[in-house]
Amino acid sequence: MTDHVVTAVADGILAIHLNRPEKKNALTVAMYAGMADALERADADGSVRVVTLTGTADSFTSGNDIADFMQQRPTSGETPVLRFLRLVSTTRKPLIAAVNGLAVGVGVTMLLHCDLAYAADSATFQLPFVSLGLVPEAASTLLLPRLVGHQRACELLLLGEKFDAASAREIGLVNAVHPAAALAGAVQERAQLLAGKPPSAVRLTKALLRSESTGVAERMIEEGRHFASQLQSPEAREAFAAFMERRKPDFSKAL
Ligand code: COA
Repeated sequence: MTDHVVTAVADGILAIHLNRPEKKNALTVAMYAGMADALERADADGSVRVVTLTGTADSFTSGNDIADFMQQRPTSGETPVLRFLRLVSTTRKPLIAAVNGLAVGVGVTMLLHCDLAYAADSATFQLPFVSLGLVPEAASTLLLPRLVGHQRACELLLLGEKFDAASAREIGLVNAVHPAAALAGAVQERAQLLAGKPPSAVRLTKALLRSESTGVAERMIEEGRHFASQLQSPEAREAFAAFMERRKPDFSKAL
């Protein structure tokens, strides 16, 4: 268990709060496990109708903890990250994201698995996998081009530049943008509306809407294979060391 993931159930809504603001809600292995546990609980508990996911302070999440990346060694079996990705992509309950601030890496790719997503006007988004010597995950190489088209997906995934909430709305990554102070209330209102709908009809409709996403699990495995080998690569090691040492990475040498 970790106190960096706080959950609460009220009025049929299971709320997941990422709560590690001093590290911009960077996700540790324990936090992935905490989110996965909450999603499993939501699926098993008939009284939970909707799941919401948000961050704290100025951050939704800055993505995977880079110190954790540096420590990772190849493992067999399902890691907490892969367990979270499997559950976020298969949960039967509607999942609503409230992107309250910066969203980096998996903080963006997990939105592709949410059923509704809302952002604060102050939120920023970035997919820096390639700049870190990695490849994208969460089946984003499949789902993002479907959402935005090939060229825009390349822009977002290869160049990895930051974009704002208005752009996220324009490309369909989030449903709407709210003033930061109004975001939680707006999401709560949407969650309550959904929680009051007939639950079987909601679950069946979600399942039908997601049935076009065949290939998601296979793509996650394929991405995961490249991701695991890139994690050990000299270019990723250089990118992580540069982040820790607060300097620009140097990819000029044949790494
Ligand atoms: N992993 C580990 N630590 C992280 C982190 C991450 N993903 N994101 C932020 N932190 C830590 C910083 O190291 C810093 O720790 P310190 O105070 O002990 O030095 C603290 O959180 C605050 O971050 P800081 O960089 O000072 O804040 P900022 O507002 O200047 O920048 C970010 C915020 C998110 C833009 C920047 O921290 C960043 O680029 N983080 C890495 C994001 C990333 O590449 N994630 C992986 C995606 S695959």
